[in-house]
Amino acid sequence: MSVRDFLSKRYTAALSAILRFKRQHKMTLLKILHHPDPRLRTKATPVETFDSGLTAFAQNMLETMYAAPGIGLAATQVNVHKRIIVVDVSEANDQPHTLINPVLETHGKKIKSEEGCLSVPEIYESVERFEYVNVTAQGVDGRPIEFTADGMLSICIQHECDHLEGKLFVDYLSSLKRGRISKKLRERVR
Ligand code: NI
Repeated sequence: MSVRDFLSKRYTAALSAILRFKRQHKMTLLKILHHPDPRLRTKATPVETFDSGLTAFAQNMLETMYAAPGIGLAATQVNVHKRIIVVDVSEANDQPHTLINPVLETHGKKIKSEEGCLSVPEIYESVERFEYVNVTAQGVDGRPIEFTADGMLSICIQHECDHLEGKLFVDYLSSLKRGRISKKLRERVR
């Protein structure tokens, strides 16, 4: 084999490796619904089938959340009305939680924190949440998950689970504030 053939073979191999990598890491960004879209008010139903489709969808949800960028996303927000949430409150985006059929038990006192939402863009308001949350859920493979969260993770999980009930953080605000926010969002769409 000539050097030229050898190099050309290597080049082809490298090129196909790059293409393979790009294919495997192709990001699928899902479209996020914005308030006041009525579909955000849908109550999600439990996940019963744990298959490769669920794994791929959860991965797309994570990629959509990171790209937004956000720290949590519920399936409701991408118009899939199944009980699936993803959260990652780490700074390096390296501690993802994918929670299927999450059930929460809240504990502690109520604390105020500033919240935002990818479905209510550029609006930040103070909302009361419980300090601690005990989470029971399933992983994408159906295995049971249980843990207790506090701080930002606790708040974020409570916020995302509200989405599965068709509830938004703005629902906790006074009707005056809610009205102002709806007006602002409608003006932005125009
Ligand atoms: Ni949200």
